[in-house]
Amino acid sequence: MMSIQHLVRNNIRSLVPYSSARSEFKGQASVFLDANESPYSTGYNRYPDPLQWKLKDKIAKREGVRTDQIFLGNGSDEAIDLLIRIFCEPGYDHIITLPPTYGMYQVSAAISAITIQEVLLDQAYEPRVKAILEIANANSKLLFLCSPNNPTGNSFSLDKIKKLAASFPGITVVDEAYIDFAAQESTISLLRSCPRLVVMKTFSKAWGLAGIRLGMAFASSEIIELFNKVKPPYNINQLTQDAALAAMQNEAKVKEQVGKILEERLLMRENLKSLDYIEQVYPSDANFILVKMKNPRGVYRYLVEQGIIVRDRSKVALCDACLRITIGTSEENEQLYKTLLTYQD
Ligand SMILES: Cc1ncc(COP(=O)(O)O)c(C=O)c1O
Repeated sequence: MMSIQHLVRNNIRSLVPYSSARSEFKGQASVFLDANESPYSTGYNRYPDPLQWKLKDKIAKREGVRTDQIFLGNGSDEAIDLLIRIFCEPGYDHIITLPPTYGMYQVSAAISAITIQEVLLDQAYEPRVKAILEIANANSKLLFLCSPNNPTGNSFSLDKIKKLAASFPGITVVDEAYIDFAAQESTISLLRSCPRLVVMKTFSKAWGLAGIRLGMAFASSEIIELFNKVKPPYNINQLTQDAALAAMQNEAKVKEQVGKILEERLLMRENLKSLDYIEQVYPSDANFILVKMKNPRGVYRYLVEQGIIVRDRSKVALCDACLRITIGTSEENEQLYKTLLTYQD
């Protein structure tokens, strides 16, 4: 197995990172004339902590990791982009994705001119471990496993994730954006035994904070140092850091909301199953349900006419004739169900 340093692009390995005023002087002082900030207080006239230690301290305690095992990004989307820029050399390296899955792995790779090898999930929407390991070579730098997977909603078998994390020659990334809605445990505990593993989570789903753009990546301190080397100096703004800290003071509220969404998911599942034009309601470990039906375009258009927007996934590989429906409030879900009851082919 190659060391992490061997997997890193040459230009990143030799990069001298930008040294910001806030990272150069870390002590206590009464007069700060080092960062060309305004001296007049607005509450936000100072640059934010570039490494967000206060927030990482809270997150570390919650997740059972050290603060130096955490990277915070402008959404998990920033972590995805930085991983590609740290490890993948255009013209040589590639990433492996398992469609149908979250679209940003592919788009981020394309922006960086990195090729993608796709290994379709199997019919049960599980990773084809043997096929993935067979195509993997020294240029396969990143393997993206999305579990629970978007748009299929299922968690991947833990045994399969473990096998891939142990045997894939590059970095295995497990995107756990929807883990708070899952019956399955997080793979964060695998970090101790898998030095080439990255686990991503986000404040955008269960925490109800998609608007503040805050994603987390957990990994070995060696990988986190690489993130810190390439990230923009002040990538997490002060408003976002404050909002996340405030939300973490009241996690009970988040747990209660997740509980409601799980109840609503069960009810939505039963309701959808009762409709005769619906062919399959896939099990979900996330805050959405994938549904197969006779006329997905017709149903989609009907819902739009009634002011209800769901996601049409019917053109996506292995999601033929499927719509993806997010779980809303009980009122919203009831409105959706009542509307679906009045749909006629
Ligand atoms: C699997 C998955 N990962 C990541 C994201 C994006 O997360 P963030 O809002 O933290 O960028 C999404 C958003 O839909 C997602 O479905």
